[in-house]
Amino acid sequence: MACKLVLVTGASSGIGAAFAREFARHGWDLAVVARREDKLQALAAEMKAQHGVDTLVITADLADPQAPQQIVDAVAQAGRQIDGLVNNAGAGQPGHFCKTEWDDQARFMQLMVTSYLKLMHLTAPGMAQRGFGRIINISSVSALVPIAKAHTRYSGTMYPGIKALLIKASEALGAELRDQGVHVTAVAPGYTWSEFHDVNGARETVSNVPGYWMLKAEDVAASGYDAVERGVPLRVPGAFYKFMTGLARILPDPAARALMARQEKTMDGK
Ligand SMILES: NC(=O)c1ccc[n+]([C@@H]2O[C@H](COP(=O)([O-])OP(=O)(O)OC[C@H]3O[C@@H](n4cnc5c(N)ncnc54)[C@H](OP(=O)(O)O)[C@@H]3O)[C@@H](O)[C@H]2O)c1
Repeated sequence: MACKLVLVTGASSGIGAAFAREFARHGWDLAVVARREDKLQALAAEMKAQHGVDTLVITADLADPQAPQQIVDAVAQAGRQIDGLVNNAGAGQPGHFCKTEWDDQARFMQLMVTSYLKLMHLTAPGMAQRGFGRIINISSVSALVPIAKAHTRYSGTMYPGIKALLIKASEALGAELRDQGVHVTAVAPGYTWSEFHDVNGARETVSNVPGYWMLKAEDVAASGYDAVERGVPLRVPGAFYKFMTGLARILPDPAARALMARQEKTMDGK
């Protein structure tokens, strides 16, 4: 009998590649999605050699509204069903909101939100019908703390709001499907070593943050896998970020904002 299969978007680097490795380590077959096919093929070969699992490589641009349906069709054409989904693909949308073209903002939302919701809409009903499913949506600590200008400058003004939507959407879909064996978890990482800050131009700024702020992608993935298996709706990986987001919840707004302003100075090297 074939193993369960998890679809991981943005698996060509960083957190997505780490999730693919984590699921493969637990015996899952993979369907991996990104634009860079060579990276996906290399991951597929690595997972076959290390864990003996099969991988479907699917190249797609998730900013294209047709992509989610095409991805799900490609998995079906290979004769497989989707038992797990890790919605992870993403990149920042640097630049002042008022000075960027609406088309760029719309592509950003297609990649960061609509493709996530569409992939859940396409795959969750089958999981519920079969009585088993695991869905992870990659959010961000920026959704759980007051706004810092660095988030808006490099990741995009809408980034924290988009990531906040994923937390509520995960919680709500998880509640809807709880009795049908489908677990839905939002994973909200803080700063994580990956290509993300090279792509959005924030590498120099991020290099100013203390080392203990930086997470490893493999630790984020291990924490996320553990959370979805336990049916936890929201997981913030790492002790520092658990403390920081917990503090933001209990502090009065002005105090939490002052804390973020202090963080901003650290990032600017002041
Ligand atoms: N790194 C952090 O500090 C951090 C913190 C919190 C949350 N996150 C979130 O974590 C997720 C993964 O980011 P990461 O840190 O692992 O960054 P990364 O190393 O840059 O990985 C991003 C992945 O998304 C894929 N991707 C980007 N645009 C795509 C598109 N249009 N179509 C298909 N795939 C696309 C990239 O593949 P291709 O370029 O090959 O297409 C790559 O595999 C993102 O949702 C990000 O918002 C990151």
